[in-house]
Amino acid sequence: MNTIFNCDIIELKKINNRAGNISVVENDLSIPFKINRVYYIYDVPGGSDRGGHAHKTLEQYVVAVSGAFDIIIDDGRNKKSIRLDRPYIALHIKKGIWREMRNFTSGSVCMVMASLPYDKEDYIDNYKAFKKFKIDEKK
Ligand code: TYD
Repeated sequence: MNTIFNCDIIELKKINNRAGNISVVENDLSIPFKINRVYYIYDVPGGSDRGGHAHKTLEQYVVAVSGAFDIIIDDGRNKKSIRLDRPYIALHIKKGIWREMRNFTSGSVCMVMASLPYDKEDYIDNYKAFKKFKIDEKK
């Protein structure tokens, strides 16, 4: 069963260049799952919260490719807030972890690399149902 303590923060490969840096994510090299989908969240109005949900099976890496935001991860027992503010730092959110995103800086971009295609059925978007999911996971 996943907890917030095995949601690692990894440093992506960074190629330094005076004319602009490059960070790389490559299947089989940088990350422990195959990326099936990439999406990004942008033009977030100041003060809005996003992402109050967990996934039953999907795992993902989240990167602040521009700007910064807080991501709150919660396993039903423990909770912590992580500020993502570097384009070469990725947070691994495993399956069965509730997440919320807050405090986006103006112009920030949140990129998500996900293990699975979009599937509404994989979402748990009600916190009570999430708590039940975590209890059932233990059985
Ligand atoms: P959602 O994942 O609920 O956003 P958040 O949890 O970050 O607030 O997605 C918002 C809407 O976008 C929802 O109607 C589904 C749609 N959507 C897709 O169609 N495909 C996708 O890959 C994603 C991530 C969202």
